[in-house]
Amino acid sequence: MSAIIVEKDLCTRCGICSEVCPMGIIVPAKEEGAVPETSADACIRCGHCEVFCPAGAITVNDRPTEKEPLPAGAGEIPAETLALYLKSRRSVRCYAKEPVPKEKILQVLDVARYAASGGNGQQVQWLVIHDKENVHRLAGLTVDWMRTIKNSSHPMSGYVPGLIAAWDAGIDPICRGAPHLVVAHIPENNPVASVDAFIALTHFDIAAPAFGIGACWAGFLSMAARSSYGPLLEALALPAGREYSYSLFFGTPKYRTRGIPRRNPLKVTWG
Ligand SMILES: Cc1cc2nc3c(=O)[nH]c(=O)nc-3n(C[C@H](O)[C@H](O)[C@H](O)COP(=O)(O)O)c2cc1C
Repeated sequence: MSAIIVEKDLCTRCGICSEVCPMGIIVPAKEEGAVPETSADACIRCGHCEVFCPAGAITVNDRPTEKEPLPAGAGEIPAETLALYLKSRRSVRCYAKEPVPKEKILQVLDVARYAASGGNGQQVQWLVIHDKENVHRLAGLTVDWMRTIKNSSHPMSGYVPGLIAAWDAGIDPICRGAPHLVVAHIPENNPVASVDAFIALTHFDIAAPAFGIGACWAGFLSMAARSSYGPLLEALALPAGREYSYSLFFGTPKYRTRGIPRRNPLKVTWG
């Protein structure tokens, strides 16, 4: 079976498909009436041959009915607008009462599906804790983990007493009272997929504001989960064979920002 379907009448034999293929497996068509060929075995189904083909002549032979042409100009954002959007993305820790509807969360996760992944492996899957009480329970379990390292040589041991005291006083310093949590999980023992998960979560973090969602990286909860704290992992109940990578807590932002905070000056060296 060929990895690509080529419409002979549309193919101009320009050779772009062959040039952009990251695997170098497309043999360009040279003669009149011939079409580019590739083997299905080595194809990673990244879709580059399909989306770079100026004639629309190629369809990747992977759910071919889902081919999605891009109308001219669609998705183009002026650089200044994009820069302001990205610079104004903030970690959101204060939430309005309205929960984020599941449909909207799915829309953001749908965007994250298009994040880069090693070898186009697309190994990241998601656990969404939609129930606020459950998020609170996970925060409590993270504090329980902190109690176990309080008097140990763990690098965080000096930092956790304040967090534990806040929790005991009724404040949630772990998930900040967020109504939802999204966990990216990957196959066990797969360092490449681990990077993929961070990239996919970054897509979520960046896309969220456009959907009216405010997110924040769940660093403390992730420390506990990545330390394999049993009660927390049991409560998360990831599917068998899957490993916690990282997570974001999120909700509907309570406040809007009015400016862009200062950051360190750019430090660049050129080689
Ligand atoms: C890996 C990582 C872990 C983080 N963990 C937490 C966390 O547990 N709790 C929290 O309130 N913020 C957390 N943050 C948010 C940072 O504090 C925040 O990104 C930083 O202060 C800069 O603010 P900004 O994201 O609004 O630009 C984390 C951020 C990253 C990248």
